[in-house]
Amino acid sequence: MASFIDTHAHLSSARYRSDLDSVLERARAAGVGTIINVGTDERDSAEVVAQSEIFPQVWAAVGVHPHVAAEVSPHFIENLAALAANRRVLAIGETGLDFYRDLSPRHQQEKVFREQLALAAALNKPVIIHSREAHAQTLAVLREMAPPRLGVAHCFSGSLEELNAFLELGFYISIAGPVTYPRSDGLRALLKEIPADRLLLETDAPYLAPQPHRGKRNEPAFVKLTYEQVALTLKMEPAQLAHQVRANAARLFWT
Ligand code: NI
Repeated sequence: MASFIDTHAHLSSARYRSDLDSVLERARAAGVGTIINVGTDERDSAEVVAQSEIFPQVWAAVGVHPHVAAEVSPHFIENLAALAANRRVLAIGETGLDFYRDLSPRHQQEKVFREQLALAAALNKPVIIHSREAHAQTLAVLREMAPPRLGVAHCFSGSLEELNAFLELGFYISIAGPVTYPRSDGLRALLKEIPADRLLLETDAPYLAPQPHRGKRNEPAFVKLTYEQVALTLKMEPAQLAHQVRANAARLFWT
């Protein structure tokens, strides 16, 4: 069976509190051999690291999401750095800018984003970028800060021009469940513009469940449905796609 990687999930979500073991068992049964568990604030980052020490197929990223950028503690960078010293931590994130929901003031989002990019550079780790309705400013900050290990634009949605700007910076592009939605012809067209060696796939579970689970809780097992849709769109065999995405993730996160 193909071995799929889910490069972005939030297993620390309260929505898995009562049945995480079953969620992970279904992932294993679906052929999902590796999951990158992504932190969204200081406390959550500690939790994803703890989970990565319990489950050998689960790895971690630590970071502060732009939604909660206004709530960081004074020592949040030191706190993230201490967590990132754990050998199970692969990346800094998710971090970035979200001007769609604007849950934290934009200047505070950008400050916290820049501090995490500096941390990633100091630790020589890649970054997991959340950018929503903020690609111009996200790209401007990335060009200026030039994170040495680069990173991934997670759950990408944007224009071809924005896609190309991330690619020109050297970034990977991660596609999530919306690529399976009937009305996502635009995203499926963009998918064909991503070089094979820059493509990653993810669930962003518990959010954004692919068809036919749309609207319900997502989980890593469902990443298989995204691989199947992407393989269909790219006219590849799912096993060949799984091999390519594993190689891409290994290059970004494990070298
Ligand atoms: Ni996420």
